[in-house]
Amino acid sequence: RLNTSQFPEGFLWGGATAANQLEGAYNEGGKGLNLADVLPGGKVRMNIIKETGFNFEIDKELYTYPNHDGIDHYHRYKEDIALFAEMGFKTYRMSIAWSRIFPNGDETEPNEEGLAFYDRVFDELHKYGIEPVVTISHYEMPLSLIKKYGGWRSREVIPMFVKYAETLFKRYKGKVNYWMTFNEINSAVFHPIMSLGFSPDNEESKLQETFQGLHHQFVASSLATKACHEIIPSSQIGCMILYAPVYSGDCNPNNILNALKEEQVFNYICGDVHVRGEYPAFTKRFFKENDIKLDIREGDLDIIKEHTVDYIALSYYMSRTEVKDEGDGDYTAGNFFTGMRNPFLKASDWGWEIDPVGLRISLNQLYDRYQVPLFVVENGLGAYDTIEEDGSINDDYRIDYLREHIRAIGEAIEDGVEVMGYTAWGCIDLVSASTGEMSKRYGFIYVDKHDDGSGTLERKKKKSFYWYQNVIATNGNQL
Ligand code: BG6
Repeated sequence: RLNTSQFPEGFLWGGATAANQLEGAYNEGGKGLNLADVLPGGKVRMNIIKETGFNFEIDKELYTYPNHDGIDHYHRYKEDIALFAEMGFKTYRMSIAWSRIFPNGDETEPNEEGLAFYDRVFDELHKYGIEPVVTISHYEMPLSLIKKYGGWRSREVIPMFVKYAETLFKRYKGKVNYWMTFNEINSAVFHPIMSLGFSPDNEESKLQETFQGLHHQFVASSLATKACHEIIPSSQIGCMILYAPVYSGDCNPNNILNALKEEQVFNYICGDVHVRGEYPAFTKRFFKENDIKLDIREGDLDIIKEHTVDYIALSYYMSRTEVKDEGDGDYTAGNFFTGMRNPFLKASDWGWEIDPVGLRISLNQLYDRYQVPLFVVENGLGAYDTIEEDGSINDDYRIDYLREHIRAIGEAIEDGVEVMGYTAWGCIDLVSASTGEMSKRYGFIYVDKHDDGSGTLERKKKKSFYWYQNVIATNGNQL
């Protein structure tokens, strides 16, 4: 069947993480508090993410905060990177915690200790020939910007983000060539808290507030793209989108139209602005019908038009099935959104539906629309792992999941889609973004750390570690 040798030479195989989910050391090295530091662990986190009126305070009497210590990568990065190298990683996608560099977000000078930490990380990666891919902002806005300015609600944070990005480009020029601006920028459409750093005033004003915040991020992202191209001419910078194809639950044309509209708003507005440099035509009607009146200042649209991205990075975990006739029953869980249960798909322990074909569909849809290289920077299975008596961790379920998704990428490449690379999410176990749990594990590397905070932090190789090592060694020929 599939000729997996279609994975091109130089395909960027690797893994992905985010600072707030693995570093720990939340108050070390001069770091300021950030958004992730105030989100508690456990399933309660998801309710907070959905809430309007969250107060952004730490409450240790009520909650636990597993990401305050994470998996202590801040102190153990050398050991972790050595394991990535052993798997043969060509690349490693990671994020920089903005509040390690500008603890409050609005200082005039960056925090040297924070900059030096990432210097050490990049040097360690290069020691093994691993190419870093850096997310500038991954759900970890400095808390003080949230409290003082209301996060991305305010235009005033645009220059602060641009200054932060420029600081990174100047410092890491020569060490980092691949960048992306905002992680899953479109996730805000469902839940603004994580990426925009504010909780909307109420349900009625949510869309207005969200799209205004997104507009500020679009301008900031374009200005960062401009700076990146100027400061590091050899660099490539992308946007990052949470992609989920939307299926209609039946062939009623009205439901198909609805699925199309969902897809336009969720999947395409952010991509169109970043790649085509303009708001798509359908936004005119969408904004009008939802009473969204954007404050777009003079020059904003020119900036967006002139500084478009080089590639699209996407996360892919699942598809979404929609039927808009009420009373359509069974809904399933998902990261940031729910959908109707799709009878053709199985789901993970967390209810996320598993749909490798959806990844092939996504890559085709994105490439048909944009014709720019695509980079799958997140994909993986959150699952409970068990350690056997002999110490082994036989995560065949994870291998099956990854195999089918990588196969789907191979098929998309054969379809003619240009894919730059694949970085499996949570290549080492880390704290979940949506539930703040440790027990939702994605890694090839097990970390002895548990939801209640206990554990030795010892790292262990799972069966999938050796499997992925071979996938990389054979450039995807042996899955
Ligand atoms: C993506 C995020 O939404 O999904 C990651 O970019 C996150 O930060 C990943 O960890 C998996 O989600 P979760 O909730 O299982 O950690």
